[in-house]
Amino acid sequence: MTEHAVEWWRHAVVYQIYPRSFQDSNGDGIGDLDGIIQRLDYLNDGTPDSLGVDAIWLSPTFPSPMADFGYDVSDYCDVHPDFGTLETMDRLIAECHRRGMKLLLDWVPNHTSDQHPWFLESRASRNNPKRDWYFWRDARPDGSMPNNWRSVFGGPAWTQAEETGQYYLHSFLREQPDLNWRNPEVERAMHDTLRFWLDRGVDGFRIDVMGMIVKHPDLADNPPNPDWKPGDRERSRYRSVNNRNYPDVYDAVKRIRSVFDEYDDRMAVGEVFGSSDEIAAFYGDDDEPGLHLAFNFQLINEMESEATHWEAQALQRIVQNAEAAMPRDAQPCYAVGNHDRSRFISRHNGDGRGLERARAAVVMQMGLRNTPFVYYGEEIGMEDVDIPEEQLKDPARIRTTGRDPERTPMQWDASPGRGFTESEPWLPFGKLERNVADQVDDPDSLLSLYRRAIHFRKTTPALLDGGHREIAAPSDVFAWVRWAQGAPAVAVAVNIARDPREVAFPGGGTICLATDRALEGMAVDRNIVVPPLGAIMVQQPAR
Ligand code: GLC
Repeated sequence: MTEHAVEWWRHAVVYQIYPRSFQDSNGDGIGDLDGIIQRLDYLNDGTPDSLGVDAIWLSPTFPSPMADFGYDVSDYCDVHPDFGTLETMDRLIAECHRRGMKLLLDWVPNHTSDQHPWFLESRASRNNPKRDWYFWRDARPDGSMPNNWRSVFGGPAWTQAEETGQYYLHSFLREQPDLNWRNPEVERAMHDTLRFWLDRGVDGFRIDVMGMIVKHPDLADNPPNPDWKPGDRERSRYRSVNNRNYPDVYDAVKRIRSVFDEYDDRMAVGEVFGSSDEIAAFYGDDDEPGLHLAFNFQLINEMESEATHWEAQALQRIVQNAEAAMPRDAQPCYAVGNHDRSRFISRHNGDGRGLERARAAVVMQMGLRNTPFVYYGEEIGMEDVDIPEEQLKDPARIRTTGRDPERTPMQWDASPGRGFTESEPWLPFGKLERNVADQVDDPDSLLSLYRRAIHFRKTTPALLDGGHREIAAPSDVFAWVRWAQGAPAVAVAVNIARDPREVAFPGGGTICLATDRALEGMAVDRNIVVPPLGAIMVQQPAR
């Protein structure tokens, strides 16, 4: 592929903004689109002084009763007044483009809000023209629910509506009824909501729970999970084979892709779950492409477990499996954090050394063959905030505290409103010392390491386009090399151990990026000692 033909998203670093928590511009304690516009220079002002990200993904910004903070959409073609208006969104699109940045919105196709006009019509009567846009079923003859599916957020996936006595399906909250994608009218209407934004110049979408939109045609019961035992999560009691990654979903994905292909240079990244093969299938095949990118959550899921907590062999296995499963030309996309998961440091802080692991993780993320996504605030080391019960807002308690701890306002400085707001923030702030102002001029800060890592990646062909090959290293070091024709190769070593580890780089080179800045610029003959919990990149001489 020649340079100009490379799709932008292959080289991009994407920054996820949770709009309620990035910047409040009107003093209501809630972040908004004008606030984001004010902060764009922080993200990319065209110089290495800014973070240097290439694209932004906004969690949902559409009108919504906010039962699930925007993932319950009541109008796909407008902007929630808390965030601004269509005019503000148009300005945000233009301001991103003026800086050479792309803007992705968050599309929620599996379900609408129960306040969406489509659902209000659908629930009104059994013979309403929109009845079949959602799933309505009678109770079984014994009075039990129409099937055994569970809501991802707990409890049954069915709620009875008083108008008709029938039950409707909701894979998440009862305020989020599932759309029936087997109805061609639904598919057409939803495709049109994409076109509405693509016509306005939006560069693409993150797609919410992509793998659930098409279910078993008869909504058959899920089989019991033989590994489930009392005390395990209720929702894993059954294997979700009939409502997640059901084979027919992949055709619907390809038809969604064809909407993107009506436009130039657009991108779809799906939130998908499952094995490496299931994830890879979302990319489609040579004949018919699917998504441009599909998130791989294994780095989060596996690293949450005690057994594989920040463990080199596990990291290596996840990347090996992803690389092996990917169709030709497909690029992985490893999620390391988002608005549903504990902050990185909080996940890896059992011994109080989470910040050091966060430093190694950004070197890893920028060094792997993938499109890196950075969740706002990770670059300054924000941690989960301990929020008093009475201030918790998230109704979905998938963890006992819900997901508010990782959604707290961005900390721009140490002032009472943290530079985020002039009034009371919608959620409490976190640790005072983790803020942008304190880190921006400190060359050893996490923020400075993020800037260096992102800028090094952007200017290094082997990291942008190179292949991935593992290299031999001690068992607690994850090491690989990225190589591209005619460019210097870059080797990466991430030391998971709390002791130094010696790694051999045959051919030597120069340390071009390191968690410990003092190492940068050092020549490597062959062997180098990687500091405890540290990571380095070595640029090898061109061959
Ligand atoms: C996705 C979103 C999550 C939301 C859920 C239902 O998992 O990331 O925030 O609650 O879908 O839309």
